[in-house]
Amino acid sequence: MDLANQRILITGGTRGIGLAIAKAMAAEGAQIAITGRREADLTKSADEIGGDVVERLGGVDILINNAGIQFNYSFFDRSYAYIASDIDTEMTVNFDAPVTLATALLPHMAEREKPANVNVSSGLGVGPKADAPIYCASKAGLRNFTRALRYQAETQAPHMKVVDVILPLVNTDMTMGRGSGKIEPSDVAQQIISGLTKGQDEIWVGKARLLKTLMRVAPNRAYKILRR
Ligand SMILES: NC(=O)c1ccc[n+]([C@@H]2O[C@H](COP(=O)([O-])OP(=O)(O)OC[C@H]3O[C@@H](n4cnc5c(N)ncnc54)[C@H](OP(=O)(O)O)[C@@H]3O)[C@@H](O)[C@H]2O)c1
Repeated sequence: MDLANQRILITGGTRGIGLAIAKAMAAEGAQIAITGRREADLTKSADEIGGDVVERLGGVDILINNAGIQFNYSFFDRSYAYIASDIDTEMTVNFDAPVTLATALLPHMAEREKPANVNVSSGLGVGPKADAPIYCASKAGLRNFTRALRYQAETQAPHMKVVDVILPLVNTDMTMGRGSGKIEPSDVAQQIISGLTKGQDEIWVGKARLLKTLMRVAPNRAYKILRR
């Protein structure tokens, strides 16, 4: 897939992986629009992305659902009301938003020459960890949603790519203070671009590729590693 002059909407483009994707794709000649909640962050990131940032897209060729949030909690040691608010936020940002954007944009994107809907999921959508049950469920749901959309596209918009990105631990605000051996967001961005260029339906990034293999040959071992 050639990204030059493609109009790309990236949710959560203010920092972390989204910002890295935006910068890397802008460098390939794409026109980028990013979303975020704070105007100051958006302005700063737009300056960093540079190049072809557009204020009004006037259409979307590629939608990248990247915005995400993870809370850690136990269903056993907090009041339900407190957890319920975190659950709502996680499901809204990680799952409902990609579904809503697909509803609004896919019929229009199907009229483009080379459209793609890229959903950023996680190894934790393949197997869960104990302290983030809803995050993991939202990413597992996103993976299944993405696959079903791909089935629909195959018959109803065969020129559209519907892509699932499965990430390992990445060095961003989301993982600050935890984990080791993290991959940098800039590496993630390059691997996503490489996967899109090759036309892959699923882009398993970095160590997530090992997870894919382990899930096939020793799933119980994979679940044990992930649950920590
Ligand atoms: N980091 C990892 O190890 C890792 C691993 C697997 C998958 N992922 C996935 O990769 C994606 C990017 O993660 P990241 O590590 O780059 O995270 P990050 O550095 O924490 O950035 C999160 C982005 O999502 C946006 N966002 C968060 N909460 C939001 C909300 N309530 N409404 C709207 N936007 C919101 C943020 O925008 P604001 O500027 O408005 O806050 C920010 O741009 C996520 O989908 C995440 O689940 C990450």
